[in-house]
Amino acid sequence: MNKVLFTPGPTNVPEEIRHVLGQDLIHHRMADYHKLLKEVNEDLKCIFDTKNDVLILTSSGTGSMESTVVNLFSTNDEVLVINTGWFGERFIEICKVYGLKVHELSYEWGNTYNIKEIEKMLEDYPSIKGIFVTYHETATGVVNHLEPLGRLTKQTDRLLIADCISGMVVQDFHFDEWGVDCAVASSQKGFLLPPGLSFVALSDKAKVALEHSNIPKYYWDYRKYLNYFNNKSEQPFTPAISIVLALQVALKQLLNKGLTKVIEDKQFIRKYAEEKFKDLGFTLFIEDESIRGNVLVPVIVPDEIDGSKLTALIDERYNFTVAGGMNQYAGKMLRIGIIGEITNKEIDLLIEYIQEVLPECKK
Ligand SMILES: Cc1ncc(COP(=O)(O)O)c(C=O)c1O
Repeated sequence: MNKVLFTPGPTNVPEEIRHVLGQDLIHHRMADYHKLLKEVNEDLKCIFDTKNDVLILTSSGTGSMESTVVNLFSTNDEVLVINTGWFGERFIEICKVYGLKVHELSYEWGNTYNIKEIEKMLEDYPSIKGIFVTYHETATGVVNHLEPLGRLTKQTDRLLIADCISGMVVQDFHFDEWGVDCAVASSQKGFLLPPGLSFVALSDKAKVALEHSNIPKYYWDYRKYLNYFNNKSEQPFTPAISIVLALQVALKQLLNKGLTKVIEDKQFIRKYAEEKFKDLGFTLFIEDESIRGNVLVPVIVPDEIDGSKLTALIDERYNFTVAGGMNQYAGKMLRIGIIGEITNKEIDLLIEYIQEVLPECKK
């Protein structure tokens, strides 16, 4: 029996896409690949809602996060990282590794940022060159709305860099209109593909910043990707060709369905799952509905239940894989990923299986 992934990436990959992944390869320096890359670039522009080309890196999400730091900044540059959880923390770590001076605004897990504090930070430290933010924080399920941040950076030289790795596709997103300067996303999330590709959109302001960065880089150098794409419709290094072929099909499916409909369907499943878990005696982790994302449903397990045993048992017995809480929420939270092809019938089954194992999970 196949696993059903209720995880916030990787997701269940639809049959039609798995079929493409097993097809014969084409060569990445030949005409058919050039055509493929141009076509997926056009479709990615629709997903990001941008007029700018979208680069494709062969890496997991973290590689693309690192690529933003090494391409857009120089050692000793001051930056602000908005930290609302595990992945915000990762941006801090990467910036520090490359010698950037990091100002942090950290928020308790389950909360979003406070715009007044961001404004004050920018007033107090006018030399801050960029703001890093996680659009959807996968550790908590919180959406950090980007539009208000874009209003602070749009008319300035400051850059807004958004980790949209889990939020892309299933959350509303408008790169140009919101004034985002660099957004990264990854194949194994809302795109319904295996891990292996990351996508990077850059504004004109970000392209200027590339020219001034002094951080050493080779594989991640965006200038190479831009040159190869503009001059040859290629990438500089051997890409994960199978996943690019599958991306072409996945993007067509998403765009044919329409992003508005994709998002509406996810919202429906989120609300459906929220109600079912409340009925089961679990507590919704995020109180404020306006910051709940469509990637996963985070719920706190009842006090007497061992959440780690629960996820282990339903995985072992029923092949239903649910993500648990991270860090201080390990064993105390479930993160029910809904970005894959998940229906309300599967949510019903999940609830049934959880009910069956609950008595065995008492502490
Ligand atoms: C918001 C966010 N950022 C970064 C990452 C890291 O991506 P990866 O594990 O693909 O390197 C993830 C992965 O779950 C994520 O959800």
